[in-house]
Amino acid sequence: MSINSTSSKSLNRLENVLIIGNGGRENSLAWAIQKNDLVKKVYLIPGNAGSERIDKCERLKIDINKQNELVEKLYFLKIDLIVIGPEIPLANGLADYLREKDFKVFGPGRDGAKLEYSKSWAKEFMQDANIPTAKFWKVNSFEEAKKIIYSSSIPLVVKVDGLASGKGVFIPESTKECLEAAESIFNGKFGNTNNLVVLEEKIKGPEVSVFALCDGKKYVILPSAQDHKRLNEKDKGPNTGGMGAYSPAPLLTDFYLDKIIKEIIEPTIEELNKKNIDYRGVIYFGLMITESGPKVIEYNCRFGDPECQTIMPLMDQNFVFLLEKCSMGNLSNDEKIKTSNKVSGCVIATSEGYPNEYRTGLPIKIGEIDSCNCQVFDSGTSLSKNGELLTDGGRVLSIVCQDKNFDIVFEKAYKNLKKIHFDGIYYRNDIGHQVRKNLSEEN
Ligand code: AMP
Ligand code: GLY
Repeated sequence: MSINSTSSKSLNRLENVLIIGNGGRENSLAWAIQKNDLVKKVYLIPGNAGSERIDKCERLKIDINKQNELVEKLYFLKIDLIVIGPEIPLANGLADYLREKDFKVFGPGRDGAKLEYSKSWAKEFMQDANIPTAKFWKVNSFEEAKKIIYSSSIPLVVKVDGLASGKGVFIPESTKECLEAAESIFNGKFGNTNNLVVLEEKIKGPEVSVFALCDGKKYVILPSAQDHKRLNEKDKGPNTGGMGAYSPAPLLTDFYLDKIIKEIIEPTIEELNKKNIDYRGVIYFGLMITESGPKVIEYNCRFGDPECQTIMPLMDQNFVFLLEKCSMGNLSNDEKIKTSNKVSGCVIATSEGYPNEYRTGLPIKIGEIDSCNCQVFDSGTSLSKNGELLTDGGRVLSIVCQDKNFDIVFEKAYKNLKKIHFDGIYYRNDIGHQVRKNLSEEN
């Protein structure tokens, strides 16, 4: 896909931008936004220990749940644009609240965030709009789930209805596992999940993430990305938030992209409009390219992590204008994104034990990193009293590089990773295996 015309300039003040969130995703957004000369300051609430290593960035100690205090501070700082990273504040209606207070906000309201926070609602939404997705059954009790599981002639997956921090999808290998998963959800293992479970046809095919920046009616598409959800090499082991990614994904040919636009992206936006949802933010389409064409696995109401860290370095300095235009509902009809002609890859360094229990507070040593087209975005870090960088999450650092091909990109990323040390550091060595010629020759 060629994405090569320029996006027009902002006519508005864009000196102070606020980003809400504390992950690698938010740091990469801050990094891309501060590249624009009009932007003087990027604030992060709360950000993490890596945020202030990024030019123009400052963390603010404010609790976003203390809304009066938050708004007062944002008026005082003359915030021109707010970007909300994670799904929880979006699902809690923070974007609605800040818009009511006259801020420009990139991020959907609570109504739009429902695409992510209720799987059953999202499935019905797709059904209403005739959007290709796996068959599904919405069940209200374990008894009802049992009936469907026992009578089903096709393999099923089991999904929690509400937000479950990436842990709400089960891919059972047997009827027994399927029953256990449904029972555990109804037994409250995931808290209040609307007392609903979604059973879905298990579909097959490679996965790809597509992001559309949407102004309510119009949209632009970012370069696609492929995430690596499984913990271990050869895509084995438990699901994680994402162990690495690359962009663009060659799997997404013009043929498929065209189909995705016509059959998925445009019908999604039309259906949002039909339902009177003014969606101003990013729609994340988690897709599977099946034998019968692309299907939606899930929607998210935010950027993917680590896809965002991977894609942001491909954006030019006008990226922030697109976010602003979305927030104002005024993307132009032929809006295009100017991107680098390089490719990008990201490897995540995690704490030992992730995605289960892990230790935090371990000192991190970062040696001399190749700074040319390479970035280290902190995902989960904090600072000790003496200013020493410490691990503070399951996913600790995102190591990202760009170059003319994926072999060079990942060679650089892994060379940089060798200069990073903390006790129990873990990363997959095969991120990008689908696009690394040197790796596929070895295998
Ligand atoms: P999600 O948390 O919805 O992104 O799901 C996590 C992962 O579960 C996806 O990336 C897929 O690999 C897998 N998955 C979800 N739904 C299905 C499905 N209907 N069929 C097969 N795999 C699925
Ligand atoms: N990388 C997957 C996600 O952000 O949900």
